[in-house]
Amino acid sequence: MKILVINGPNLNMLGIREPEIYGSSTLQDIYDLLNLEAAGKCELRFFQSNHEGAIVDEIQAAYQKIDGILINPAAYTHTSLAIADAIKSVAIPVVEVHISDIATREEFRQISYIKPFAIAQISGLGIEGYVKGLQILIEHLSK
Ligand code: DQA
Repeated sequence: MKILVINGPNLNMLGIREPEIYGSSTLQDIYDLLNLEAAGKCELRFFQSNHEGAIVDEIQAAYQKIDGILINPAAYTHTSLAIADAIKSVAIPVVEVHISDIATREEFRQISYIKPFAIAQISGLGIEGYVKGLQILIEHLSK
């Protein structure tokens, strides 16, 4: 089982970026946590980009190669029909994850273009949300 983990814009700045909202862990800390959870269960591929088109390209490249996608689309969550369409195009099961609780933040963060096409949305659990998302994806793909 192959799972692609996608992180969108500014998530490469975790650890530095607004620690009062996103905590002090880095993206590498998230990768380490996910690798621990994945051990013996699935193969992970990690991808981070600050560019919408690069994320669309990565999703398209996953077609018939990847079984599931765990994605934190970051700010593109609230703006990107292109990423939502790419997810629909490849028809790969997706779990959407957010570190902060987007439902209780600014109004503009409460819309997700991705949510309608995801099997689950996890929000507000900090970096543990990635682990939960991976568990949901593995369970879904094991059915
Ligand atoms: C985020 C929430 C988004 O609103 C924000 O733009 C991000 C991170 C989160 O993980 O909480 O960059 O996706």
